[in-house]
Amino acid sequence: MITEVKEILYSAEQISARVKDLGQAITEAYQGKAPVLVGILKGAVPFLNDMMRAIELPLSYDLMAVSSYGAATTSSGTVRIRKDLDLAIEGRDILVIEDLIDTGLTIQYVLERLHSRKPRSLKVCTLLDKPARRRVAITPDYNGFTIPDVFVVGYGLDYAEEYRNLPYIGVLHEAIYKNGGERG
Ligand code: IMP
Ligand code: MG
Repeated sequence: MITEVKEILYSAEQISARVKDLGQAITEAYQGKAPVLVGILKGAVPFLNDMMRAIELPLSYDLMAVSSYGAATTSSGTVRIRKDLDLAIEGRDILVIEDLIDTGLTIQYVLERLHSRKPRSLKVCTLLDKPARRRVAITPDYNGFTIPDVFVVGYGLDYAEEYRNLPYIGVLHEAIYKNGGERG
């Protein structure tokens, strides 16, 4: 474990086991369908990569980038699309793959934008749910782990673009973001 991380919340093995469970649940729920997984860049990339291979269905995936955070550890509350989907999703079964739902503002915005394109169904699969700071009523359809109000990094999650490559999910030492970011 690196020194900037003060505690490991989920090991690579625990993540992998949970991904298998989620993949099985989604495989059963989407029988006879060919869903489109929509990964939210960049944080969801490792999760999308593992999830798509845990789902035993014909599927497509696409990527979308939205911004709301910058380097800070709290949401600014403003969301915009920085890279849109390439695939048309009208009439398709869409499963949004997200790294973490915190205030819910990002996922709410993504869902509004996708909903307007008239998919047949629209659901959310998040690796982590941090319900303590929720500002909108959003509950993920599939959730890897529910976590307390701590700032986590690893397995795609970053602080100022670092730590995304850690194979585990860990709590970042407050000292790391006390200087650069903001919190509270
Ligand atoms: P929301 O709009 O407040 O729900 O923010 C969701 C996004 O903020 C996530 O997709 C993450 O990219 C980022 N985020 C929220 N909490 C954390 C965290 O603890 N570590 C790293 N990124 C986070
Ligand atoms: Mg981020």
